[in-house]
Amino acid sequence: MGSKKSSDENEVKTKKPVYPGNSIMVRPNGPLICKGDTEITLLNAAGEVVLKDKEFALCRCGMSKSKPFCDGSHKNREEDIAQAFIDEREEDIHSLDGELTIMVKENAMYSFKGPVTIFSRDGLSKTTRTKGALCRCGHSDKKPFCDVQHKKCGFIG
Ligand code: FES
Repeated sequence: MGSKKSSDENEVKTKKPVYPGNSIMVRPNGPLICKGDTEITLLNAAGEVVLKDKEFALCRCGMSKSKPFCDGSHKNREEDIAQAFIDEREEDIHSLDGELTIMVKENAMYSFKGPVTIFSRDGLSKTTRTKGALCRCGHSDKKPFCDVQHKKCGFIG
């Protein structure tokens, strides 16, 4: 499985912020752009390595036919997927050095471990974490974080 990247032609182009170490950028109506100074490990639900790469785009609308990767299907979604967020669980991280591992949970979220800066494409929302769960069904009310809506909507993926 290779890395997939997406472009969103409807996105307003602004200078995006850049953070050292691992980062996950939340694109408006688009995917999660995962980037690392070193390779980020992506695991399937069985704990097997799917990909190790310094950059890849993960689906967060739930519609990709190439899950967990973005294939541009978000462009067909009717509702907007906002990039803005507030993180009630922000952690005070002293060092952003360290490996980031993201696990794709079956019919559920992305679970991640390791220091990471999560931010919106416009730079107005930002948090730092060492663990957490990100929505990939497209239905969370707390996007980009999972709020367990995947159970209610019967997400398969
Ligand atoms: S994966 Fe969307 S709410 Fe959990």
